[in-house]
Amino acid sequence: MEEILLGGSSARVFLTRTAAGEQWVVKILVAQTGSVDGHDLQSFRAKLEQTDRITQTAPILGERYIPTTHIFEGGSWACQVTPFYPSTDLAAPLREPGGEELFFRQSAAVFQALLVKGYGVDSIPAPPGFVDRVVVGRFLRRLPMLERALPEALSFDTLQINGRTCISPRLLLRQILDNRRSRLDMLAPSRLMFCAHGDANTRNLLIGAPKEGNVDFRVIDPRGSTEYWDPVYDIAKSLFSLSVWDLALRLGFHIEGSGATYNVSFRRPFYDGYRSAILRFQSWLDSMPDLNDLFREDRLWRERLVLTHDMHVLAEAPCRLSDRKPKIGGDGRPSSPEELALGFYLVGTLLLNDFAQSLTGGDPQDPADHLSLAWV
Ligand SMILES: Nc1ncnc2c1ncn2[C@@H]1O[C@H](COP(=O)(O)OP(=O)(O)OP(=O)(O)O)[C@@H](O)[C@H]1O
Ligand SMILES: [Mg+2]
Repeated sequence: MEEILLGGSSARVFLTRTAAGEQWVVKILVAQTGSVDGHDLQSFRAKLEQTDRITQTAPILGERYIPTTHIFEGGSWACQVTPFYPSTDLAAPLREPGGEELFFRQSAAVFQALLVKGYGVDSIPAPPGFVDRVVVGRFLRRLPMLERALPEALSFDTLQINGRTCISPRLLLRQILDNRRSRLDMLAPSRLMFCAHGDANTRNLLIGAPKEGNVDFRVIDPRGSTEYWDPVYDIAKSLFSLSVWDLALRLGFHIEGSGATYNVSFRRPFYDGYRSAILRFQSWLDSMPDLNDLFREDRLWRERLVLTHDMHVLAEAPCRLSDRKPKIGGDGRPSSPEELALGFYLVGTLLLNDFAQSLTGGDPQDPADHLSLAWV
């Protein structure tokens, strides 16, 4: 039995082979006190209910979900077994020279299924407060955990990050919620849609060998909720995988400084393919057939994508604390959970400050310029 270390949660995932040569993936979660919301036993179990719902309501997408074939449950643990699907993560072509075209071709197949055949099957008028509760609130709810783990950096209201003066997210989000309320309300989704995933990071979207010349792919590991949801949340998850998440987990951060002053960068070598993909990401989305239809009542979904992306970067910081699997950086040096958490916090703070400036008026922000701040 071999451990798969690619997951981003506190679950442990193993690849096993039976005497007959069949390969299975065994995923085990043991309840932990203090794990972030979404990494708890209840969400783990709810993933099964969500997958069933997707199979019934969005069958074209549902047939792409790898089924859970065996479930074992104890009082404080649960174990789910799926057949092993030989595959790579969606971002894999971007780690090879010239892999960008392949990445976008594979992504087109995946996002067509996820967004159009998944999210698009049903929608309801969005209740008020989605952005506050989900996009912003998810980070604020996790903030005390981060403050306990990183008391030094989190105690400052103003930080210098890579030479820029930044307001702490705790303070800045308060200011945005109080003083920029009308701008924030304008960004809110007009409709929430069928929750087709909810954690569409590039490691939950698996690409197999092509079948009859077509992209073959599978989907795993939805968020564990059947609540109506915003597809922009998942587009932002994939974008965030390319801008910060996957790079940080593969390469690690190099952080210098202490107190209120830091320089943060990715450890080298860097994958340039991720950068080119991000530059093209928005225009590629705009060229996707049917996507305009999905967002026809939602003029400002692109701006919401930027905010949701930035909030994913910040909300990942506390998540890093509950993933205790070893992470070896690009230079061979391990990254501790605390170091990764600090890196996500600093990059997220840089991004959120830049986003906040766009809320104060002036010219609309170029998403590529904004995201380039994350290329540290
Ligand atoms: N059935 C499968 N076939 C092939 N690879 C798999 C399968 N299930 C999981 N994996 C691999 O294991 C990794 C981790 O699995 P998974 O995404 O389920 O866990 P996780 O991200 O830690 O948990 P979670 O997001 O539920 O909190 C995946 O990114 C993928 O590389
Ligand atoms: Mg996963």
